[in-house]
Amino acid sequence: MKVHGVFLVATVFYLAYTQLVNGQRHKGCQTSCGNVTIEYPFGTSPGCYYADDPSFKLTCNDKQKLLFGDNIEVINISHSGELRVWNNVSYACYNNQGNLSDNLYYTYTLANLSLSRSNMFTLVGCNALAFLSTFGTQNYSTGCMTTCNSPSTETGDCNGTGCCRIDVSVPLDSYSFGTRSSRLENMTSVYDFYNPCTYAFLAENGTFHFDALGDLKNLRNVTEFPLVLDWSIGNQTCEQVGNTSECGVNNSICFNSNRGTGYNCKCLEGFEGNPYLPNEHGCQDINECTTNSTIHKHNCSDPSTCRNKIGGFYCKCQSGYRLDSTTMSCKRKDFEWATIFLGTTIGFLSLLLVFSCVQQRMKQRKTAEFRQKLFEQNGGGMLIQRLSGPGTSNANIQIFTEESMKEATNGYEESRILGQGGQGTVYKGILPDNSIVAIKKARLGDSSQVEQFINEVLVLSQINHRNVVKLLGCCLETEVPLLVYEFINSGTLFDHLHGSFVGPSLTWEHRLRIAVEIAGTLAYLHSSASIPIIHRDVKTANILLDENLTAKVADFGASRLIPMDKEQLTTMVQGTLGYLDPEYYNTGLLNEKSDVYSFGVVLMELLSGQKALCFERPQQSKHIVSYFASATKENRVYEVIDGKVLTDNNQREIKEVARIAVECTRLMGEERPKMKEVASELEGLRVAKDKYQSSDQYTEETEHLAGVQYHIGTRG
Ligand SMILES: *[C@@H]1O[C@H](CO)[C@@H](O)[C@H](O)[C@H]1NC(C)=O
Ligand SMILES: *[C@@H]1O[C@H](CO)[C@@H](O)[C@H](O)[C@H]1NC(C)=O
Ligand SMILES: *[C@@H]1O[C@H](CO)[C@@H](O)[C@H](O)[C@H]1NC(C)=O
Ligand SMILES: *[C@@H]1O[C@H](CO)[C@@H](O)[C@H](O)[C@H]1NC(C)=O
Ligand SMILES: *[C@@H]1O[C@H](CO)[C@@H](O)[C@H](O)[C@H]1NC(C)=O
Ligand SMILES: *[C@@H]1O[C@H](CO)[C@@H](O)[C@H](O)[C@H]1NC(C)=O
Ligand SMILES: *[C@@H]1O[C@H](CO)[C@@H](O)[C@H](O)[C@H]1NC(C)=O
Ligand SMILES: *[C@@H]1O[C@H](CO)[C@@H](O)[C@H](O)[C@H]1NC(C)=O
Ligand SMILES: *[C@@H]1O[C@H](CO)[C@@H](O)[C@H](O)[C@H]1NC(C)=O
Ligand SMILES: *[C@@H]1O[C@H](CO)[C@@H](O)[C@H](O)[C@H]1NC(C)=O
Ligand SMILES: *[C@@H]1O[C@H](CO)[C@@H](O)[C@H](O)[C@H]1NC(C)=O
Ligand SMILES: *[C@@H]1O[C@H](CO)[C@@H](O)[C@H](O)[C@H]1NC(C)=O
Repeated sequence: MKVHGVFLVATVFYLAYTQLVNGQRHKGCQTSCGNVTIEYPFGTSPGCYYADDPSFKLTCNDKQKLLFGDNIEVINISHSGELRVWNNVSYACYNNQGNLSDNLYYTYTLANLSLSRSNMFTLVGCNALAFLSTFGTQNYSTGCMTTCNSPSTETGDCNGTGCCRIDVSVPLDSYSFGTRSSRLENMTSVYDFYNPCTYAFLAENGTFHFDALGDLKNLRNVTEFPLVLDWSIGNQTCEQVGNTSECGVNNSICFNSNRGTGYNCKCLEGFEGNPYLPNEHGCQDINECTTNSTIHKHNCSDPSTCRNKIGGFYCKCQSGYRLDSTTMSCKRKDFEWATIFLGTTIGFLSLLLVFSCVQQRMKQRKTAEFRQKLFEQNGGGMLIQRLSGPGTSNANIQIFTEESMKEATNGYEESRILGQGGQGTVYKGILPDNSIVAIKKARLGDSSQVEQFINEVLVLSQINHRNVVKLLGCCLETEVPLLVYEFINSGTLFDHLHGSFVGPSLTWEHRLRIAVEIAGTLAYLHSSASIPIIHRDVKTANILLDENLTAKVADFGASRLIPMDKEQLTTMVQGTLGYLDPEYYNTGLLNEKSDVYSFGVVLMELLSGQKALCFERPQQSKHIVSYFASATKENRVYEVIDGKVLTDNNQREIKEVARIAVECTRLMGEERPKMKEVASELEGLRVAKDKYQSSDQYTEETEHLAGVQYHIGTRG
């Protein structure tokens, strides 16, 4: 039992071994016979060859010869459909009477194989004739003839003298063939010289080389030549069998047999193995770099550069070297025309790029220089100097760029214009953060306006008051400077008083409050600001109202800063007709009382609802000051008061305010009250009014107090 077990295991191992090594289809198939390797689809035992088809059955005899059929000895088998076998020579020999002494008419059964077209039919002999006959659905016969003249003329070419040969173009379906040869005539005359026999045989092209003297004498010693037979699987084409072919799945392809029936398989280029077997038994990648085969060996000139890859190889050159495909050697990379062309192009392009960059830069610089020039021209330098100088506590002024201004005003669109005045054009602007601003643009080509702009920036930078319109910033890069203010949306006091503003007219309470706010602001400017400021252009058109009707004093273009040590300045007379202080107009001496005069005019406008200058009034009352003066003198103040504001309750207040207005507009500056006094008087009136309204009582005290203040105020 034990012995049996060991034997069994050994057998299994052996079988597994043979299967692995030789890639046979089944365990136990014979893989060689003598020197010949047996591979599927051929085999010696049932199950080892293809489909139990006897066409693929071989036998290995006791002399270790591999036989096909009964007596055809196999030399080797190629996967691509060729079977190489030994083939006998047919002959005819004659005696010295010219009688046929020995003759071999040789026939060969092809079974299911075909004669390959790579065989040739050859006759060796003198004055002889040979035939090749094939048998099949159609019988066929061909032959050739030789002559011999004299021994000296025989040559090595098998072209008719002592030897002839022809291609084998026999019908493909022949199942057997025969060869024979014979003499044409008695050749007794040449008997001694030549071989008495003639030979005819089919042999693989290239296996017989005619040697005139030797072969004509001694060929009889040679009895067999290799013959190529074609084989194929089945009687269908690759297209017909499709996926069901016997070809292995990987790297194996089917091709139609040149027999005209059936197909064969072959490994893809770069692979070797049995194409009729699958996977590891079938086609495998050839390592061209290490193979001993001369057919598949790599052709890299330096073997060390060879690298295998699936289905091929490549020669790997070091960096800086490239492969020369004609010599398969690595050559140092050098400049070629293409490289030079490419290099030149790239160089040219980069030069162009650099040039355009420089040009762009120069253009930008020019623009920047131009803007800087404008900035300087617009007094930017001076402004920065002044802003960084002493006494500028509130220099929170933003410098805007030209682009941002253009964007904010949508390219200074006409629909954005809020107003157009002596000082320039005011646009509504929308900043990137969506805040709305008013942008004031000076008129082009007026250098005095430029000065005014700078002046306004400087003045406003000093002020931080809730009733002064806030300056947010400026832009000096443009040809004319731009000022950016907070946006006050309800128009000017002028508009409200003189009808061009659509909406309810101002009540007396509004007017009084506005008067208080303006007076307070002017008082602040004259005394409280770090450097006293004279507005110089107080008028209803320069007082803006916001949505709560809170007054915002604007337009400081004409304003002046008064140095601490000076009471008044000598300047070019500037202002608006109707509001202009006549004393200042006559002397050119500017002091804070000029603003008081202008404020008086504003008060009168508030009281009367009439314009400062009106040519519809009688000659001597054209100017509101004289209009009021004459009315006061003739004790008919109420006649000049706006009918819309006059009620039973406010007559006293109105009278008081009218009195203040008249005092403010006195001819001599010295006689006018100070702004501070005016402010507190008006404030007093307002407080008293509130008190009166809330407690319903009016006291003389307030009036008296106001009078005292007024009296103190006019001391100088
Ligand atoms: C095998 O080949 C060798 C060398 O070519 C030869 O000597 C030997 O006779 C061959 N064996 C058979 C069985 O054909
Ligand atoms: C088969 O035999 C021929 C002739 O002997 C030889 O040239 C050829 O290389 C052989 N082929 C194989 C695959 O052994
Ligand atoms: C070839 O000749 C040998 C020896 O004469 C013989 O044994 C063999 O059967 C012949 N082959 C064929 C195919 O006839
Ligand atoms: C051949 O030889 C025989 C005698 O050996 C002779 O009788 C015969 O005439 C010769 N010739 C032919 C053509 O057979
Ligand atoms: C030829 O092939 C057919 C079918 O495959 C088979 O039946 C027949 O036996 C074969 N003939 C020979 C001589 O092998
Ligand atoms: C035979 O071989 C020669 C030389 O190799 C070649 O020129 C010729 O075409 C071949 N003939 C056939 C039928 O294969
Ligand atoms: C071919 O030749 C053989 C033998 O001579 C004969 O029996 C057969 O009838 C022939 N076939 C044809 C198609 O002539
Ligand atoms: C045979 O070849 C020889 C030498 O090349 C030449 O002289 C001769 O004419 C050729 N004969 C024929 C029939 O082609
Ligand atoms: C061959 O020659 C002999 C003698 O010269 C002659 O008798 C015989 O008839 C010839 N044979 C043929 C077939 O011509
Ligand atoms: C052929 O045989 C003869 C006699 O048997 C012999 O003398 C001759 O050398 C042989 N030739 C070759 C090439 O073997
Ligand atoms: C192919 O062979 C099969 C049997 O092997 C046979 O039945 C069939 O008729 C053949 N077809 C052709 C076209 O020869
Ligand atoms: C190649 O040949 C060498 C020596 O001839 C041998 O040692 C080696 O095993 C062979 N390699 C292959 C893959 O056949």
